[in-house]
Amino acid sequence: MSDPIITVIPGDGIGPEVTDAVLGVLRAAGASLEYERQSAGVGAVATHGSPLPGETVDSIERNRVALKGPLATPSGSGFRSVNVAIRKTFDLFANVRPVRTILPGGRYEDIDLVLIRENTEGLYVGVEHFIGMERDPKAAAESVMITTRFGSERIVRFAFDYAAANGRGKVTLAHKANILKHTQGLFLEVGQRMAADYADRVAFEDRIIDATAMYLVLDPYRFDVLVMENMFGDILSDLMAGLVGGLGFAPAGNIGESHAVFEAVHGSAPDIAGQGVANPTGLLLSACLLLDHVGQGETATRIRDAVTTVIRDGTARTRDMGGNHGTSEFAAAVTGALA
Ligand code: NAI
Repeated sequence: MSDPIITVIPGDGIGPEVTDAVLGVLRAAGASLEYERQSAGVGAVATHGSPLPGETVDSIERNRVALKGPLATPSGSGFRSVNVAIRKTFDLFANVRPVRTILPGGRYEDIDLVLIRENTEGLYVGVEHFIGMERDPKAAAESVMITTRFGSERIVRFAFDYAAANGRGKVTLAHKANILKHTQGLFLEVGQRMAADYADRVAFEDRIIDATAMYLVLDPYRFDVLVMENMFGDILSDLMAGLVGGLGFAPAGNIGESHAVFEAVHGSAPDIAGQGVANPTGLLLSACLLLDHVGQGETATRIRDAVTTVIRDGTARTRDMGGNHGTSEFAAAVTGALA
């Protein structure tokens, strides 16, 4: 059988640097993949006149699997998030964000958690507008939170199925149903009902989002798989990345029924872009999730083991890990540690 072709989008800021590093490790590890490079983000506006060129969309459509670097989104004004557009276009409803301790000596040892974030609904649907009053066109602003039974059911089911398939014992549904009685109330109701279908395999609990944030910091070991709506998941997944040493270590997969886009949790890091100092681990571990997804889990395990060895032994560490190695030196060390 021929190797699967995957779409590769290097993206903005540190994206091209970490993408080059990751592709080098994938090649050295013998990943059976072919790569189709495509553009998106601020860079693509200059070269293609659009932050999400049609040929990039066509490539993801055709290949069904993509590895994506970070894409910068202007805050407040300017074009809408291309990340959100990609998730919507391919209905990538589940954002899977595992965090695991690799760098020892951090706040906690042996963290192993997975956050499942709903990716298509909530406040991020972008239904918002200003309300003008008298001479102020921005006297107020309004944003609509959308929760559907369909969307809630499929993400909660995904979380339970993920837990059952990966030998994980508990799903925590984090919500704000005490205040948002309709939108979050519906999400909670769906979770409580569905828990009964999995009661023999996976335990269930629900917890208010603010208390969840506190307990994640105080005692993260009480959690296993967490599921929540879009914006809560966006925020708490960064918090969880902080538990294992920061954004440089956090991978993600955006999964739909037929397409999947893998990317690091971090953004384009404009403060360090072009310096060759970014930590490529987030994107590398995202590539491992991609390998799992296309049935090359053995290669993924070899890469994860090599990353763990290099970081634990201190053979190479990037600046965010307290070391002074550059992106490509770190990647070379990982390649050297491949079994
Ligand atoms: P960011 O994640 O780019 O940076 C936050 C901090 O973490 C910075 O100090 C940065 O240097 C550091 N950092 C991030 N990744 C790192 C890595 N691999 N190695 C070492 N240090 C790293 O978040 P920020 O600054 O809020 O966003 C910058 C841009 O990225 C924005 O335009 C935002 O919209 C975009 N963004 C894109 C995402 C995506 O494409 N999935 C996700 C998050 C943000």
